[in-house]
Amino acid sequence: MNVLIINGPNLNLLGIRETSIYGEKSFTQYFEGICKKYPQYHFEYFQSNIEGELIDKIHEVGYSYDGIVLNAGAYTHTSLALADAISAVKTPVIEVHISNVFKREKVRHHSFIAPVCMGSISGFGLDSYRLAIEALSSVI
Ligand code: DQA
Repeated sequence: MNVLIINGPNLNLLGIRETSIYGEKSFTQYFEGICKKYPQYHFEYFQSNIEGELIDKIHEVGYSYDGIVLNAGAYTHTSLALADAISAVKTPVIEVHISNVFKREKVRHHSFIAPVCMGSISGFGLDSYRLAIEALSSVI
């Protein structure tokens, strides 16, 4: 199973940024743990702060990979273009959030991408990514 994990804007600062919300671990550290935990899967990791680069990456792997785990960061709440990219490809996409977006400001309650994703996981810290991988592994 080939799985791409995509992180959107500001998520390159995990471990540094607002640690009371997002925790103290860097994503690189967490990703190493994921690769060790699931040696039977092939993982790729991509992060960008640029909306168009996230869209290009979805296009690039969206007809060949088995799954995409996507934390679109704030683009979740703003980007119809990202939603269109997810609709365009065949690979199932799981929406992930580290924080429980529904416990936060109202502007974070709406997701443009939720309706075009296979499902959404929010609020379990970095473990949200693992839960998404578990979900993918049971459907593909
Ligand atoms: C986030 C939640 C978003 O509202 C926020 O803009 C992020 C991170 C999360 O993982 O909890 O950048 O996607």
